[in-house]
Amino acid sequence: MDKKLQSINLQKVPNHIAIIMDGNGRWAKNKGMQRVFGHKNALTAVREAVAGASDIGTKFITLYAFSTENWNRPKLEVDALMTLLITSLKKELSGFQKNGIKINSIGAIEQLPKKAQKTLTEVIEATKNNTTITLTFALSYGAREEIVNAIKNISKKVVNNNLDIEKIDEKIINNHLYTFNLPDVDFMIRTSGEQRISNFLLWQMAYAELYFTDVLWPDFRKEHLFDAIIDYQNRERRFGKTSEQIETDE
Ligand code: IPE
Ligand code: IPE
Ligand code: MG
Repeated sequence: MDKKLQSINLQKVPNHIAIIMDGNGRWAKNKGMQRVFGHKNALTAVREAVAGASDIGTKFITLYAFSTENWNRPKLEVDALMTLLITSLKKELSGFQKNGIKINSIGAIEQLPKKAQKTLTEVIEATKNNTTITLTFALSYGAREEIVNAIKNISKKVVNNNLDIEKIDEKIINNHLYTFNLPDVDFMIRTSGEQRISNFLLWQMAYAELYFTDVLWPDFRKEHLFDAIIDYQNRERRFGKTSEQIETDE
């Protein structure tokens, strides 16, 4: 694995990695266990992904932990996920401090159970001065809901004469998204073999490189992250320009 790390060009790492952590249910089912067993075994993968991202100097990592659509799962599973969120945040706090991890959240946080909101607020406050990496949890997050929310807030400003319609541009829209304090996503990883976006960071991933792996989330380790990064580094991000232009820019 050190060999994998050594083959990564540290000058060319994604600044912001976003991960759709998928496959917990199937992982558990493969072992003849209930779905919740998979969620319980997802924490090691979270630790590894964040540590791996830190190792290479990535400054932002965003993890899709619970979508707006996930509220439609059986109540038993939703309740278990919320409980796990609270216990995991508490359990990891000392690790966050030790490793300089700043916690952030995006999504309709007010829809989470009060206890989860409280723990999350406490962990965000306690880690606010950490500077190694920002770890954002997408919770009760849906990109369409985020955009609707932004449009409402921008409209209010226009109606109240606090914003001129002609001033609305990409920057203003950015500033009204849950991710106002985060840079665009450079690299998106999805585990478990599914190849879709599932309402994650639609605006922010406009020019992200996408990577799909069959590994189920509870099995995800640093080496899988490093494989993904090596793949990323073999791509050419052109942003609409020609390959020749990109070469002369460098
Ligand atoms: C991802 O794993 C975790 C959440 C969506 C909360 P899943 O629970 O979606 O696992 P699969 O896709 O059913 O295997
Ligand atoms: C997406 O996973 C949401 C999270 C990882 C939290 P899902 O497993 O819910 O996605 P779909 O519904 O299969 O696309
Ligand atoms: Mg899934």
